[in-house]
Amino acid sequence: MVELCVCIGSSCHIKGSFGVIQAFKQHIEEKSLQDKINFKSSFCMKQCSNAGVAVSVDNVIHQVSPDKAGEFFTAQVMPKV
Ligand code: FES
Repeated sequence: MVELCVCIGSSCHIKGSFGVIQAFKQHIEEKSLQDKINFKSSFCMKQCSNAGVAVSVDNVIHQVSPDKAGEFFTAQVMPKV
């Protein structure tokens, strides 16, 4: 099970966490990965000063912008499922 978590704290909300969540949800549904990915959201991950929305994959934190969320999913999440 891959642990995928998107920050929904106020800073990441402003940077587009909703868009990142929507993109990830779409990929999970399209590929029927509901049983392979534990998809969650979190309050502030203490990465506010970084550029993108904080996203953790198996507890490794990345920065993701909403327009790159699909690419990120393919590159960082798919190899782990
Ligand atoms: S609000 Fe997302 S890291 Fe702080």
